[in-house]
Amino acid sequence: MASVPTLNAEDGRAVIDPASYADWDNLLDRFDTIRSQSPVVRVAGVDDVHRPFWLVTGYDEVMQVSKDNATYLNNPQTVVFSLNEGIAFAKAMTGGSEHMVASLVTFDAPIHMKYRKLTQEWFMPKNLRTIEGEIRAIAERTVDRMLAAGPDIDFVKQVSGPYPLHVVMQILGVPEEDEPRMLMLTQQMFGGQDEDLNQSGMAAMTPEQITQLVAGAVKDFEAYFAGITAEKRVNPTSDVASTIANSVVDGSPLNDRDMMGYYIILAAAGHDTTSASTAGAMMALAHDPEQFARVKADRSLLAGIVEEAIRWTSPVQHFMRTVAKDTQLGGQELKQGDWLMINYVAANHDPSQFEDPRRFDAARSPNRHLAFGAGAHQCLGLHLARLEMRILFEALLDRIERVEPAGEAHRSKSTFVGGLKSLPLRITSA
Ligand code: HEM
Repeated sequence: MASVPTLNAEDGRAVIDPASYADWDNLLDRFDTIRSQSPVVRVAGVDDVHRPFWLVTGYDEVMQVSKDNATYLNNPQTVVFSLNEGIAFAKAMTGGSEHMVASLVTFDAPIHMKYRKLTQEWFMPKNLRTIEGEIRAIAERTVDRMLAAGPDIDFVKQVSGPYPLHVVMQILGVPEEDEPRMLMLTQQMFGGQDEDLNQSGMAAMTPEQITQLVAGAVKDFEAYFAGITAEKRVNPTSDVASTIANSVVDGSPLNDRDMMGYYIILAAAGHDTTSASTAGAMMALAHDPEQFARVKADRSLLAGIVEEAIRWTSPVQHFMRTVAKDTQLGGQELKQGDWLMINYVAANHDPSQFEDPRRFDAARSPNRHLAFGAGAHQCLGLHLARLEMRILFEALLDRIERVEPAGEAHRSKSTFVGGLKSLPLRITSA
């Protein structure tokens, strides 16, 4: 029997270390080396702090796993990489489930589709056109604030951070004065690995303390949205929160855990992701004045910039799957119950699919990236994310004459959702 390709201890530690994801070029180098040896490789659980898993870095293999939702499940093991201590704590909190929150990403067929259908129409382009005006107003206000703060700004703090947060909070019916609280809670839940982002002293905490903080954030979030649900049941509007609050599955309204899971996944999935791809697009334009001038003159180029920024940044860096039955992937024998990391960063930089993958190429065609995943769980908010980015850049291009880098940009330390946490720029208004 052929031996199983297994990562050396250094690479194994790096793949699960949040700090590696802040060191982007080295991370991409590492993935290139790993992928060229084997697109599917075993990470054996170095230091006994985590379960062994398969790391999938090849484009074709990540696509295959994503589309085969019968063989690769989002249950029962956690879908976001977690150390053993974190998993044990989640199980203690939930009474046995590894998922701290029950949501679309933790459901499999047939229940998954029943829940997804509840809001699928809402997220389609036809419905989104009805809120385009509101999104544009948020974009204009954000650009107003940026220009008032300029010429030297931190694009992440001024623009790409708050803008998608305002949009997602608007569709969830959260008033603007409560947004800072929601931001804190979602960052504690999902951005928790980077001390600059959650500002809660997590760097000095043990894994158990971190998990406790996360659990506390989930509870606060649930309490807050119980109020929104009650309100939307009495006074429904056209927002997605009203759709969720008044949904029925198999003849019954959603139970509390499922409903909260829905709000949490939308609130969490909807802002740091779009923020990261928006900041990435702006960084690319700031470093390429000719490209900036071209798109300013010809807005038809914007769609290519948006799509390439999403690939180039790959804000959702991985998801995990559990193997449902013995199978083969990338030449390896996988056993029922095995745990798998599908790494979108690695897949979206696979040179067999993308020529010169580290280059930001707005004209890249085709650009069949996997940043939104694929298959049954493919990102529900992908049309919204693209729309938000297009509208913001239309507003920016109308009102900016020039943009230049004004200092070093920094990435967040996170294995899950990651991207720029600061992007200093000098803006010249039009
Ligand atoms: C799922 C990426 C923006 C809501 C996902 C998945 C990825 C992803 C990789 C998992 C796909 C899979 O398992 O195959 C992104 C990126 C975004 C973005 C890169 C921005 C550039 C948004 C927005 C929303 C959203 C704006 C909504 C407000 C969701 C939801 C799911 C999801 C609800 C779970 C879908 C399911 O399991 O059926 N996203 N996302 N996302 N995303 Fe996004």
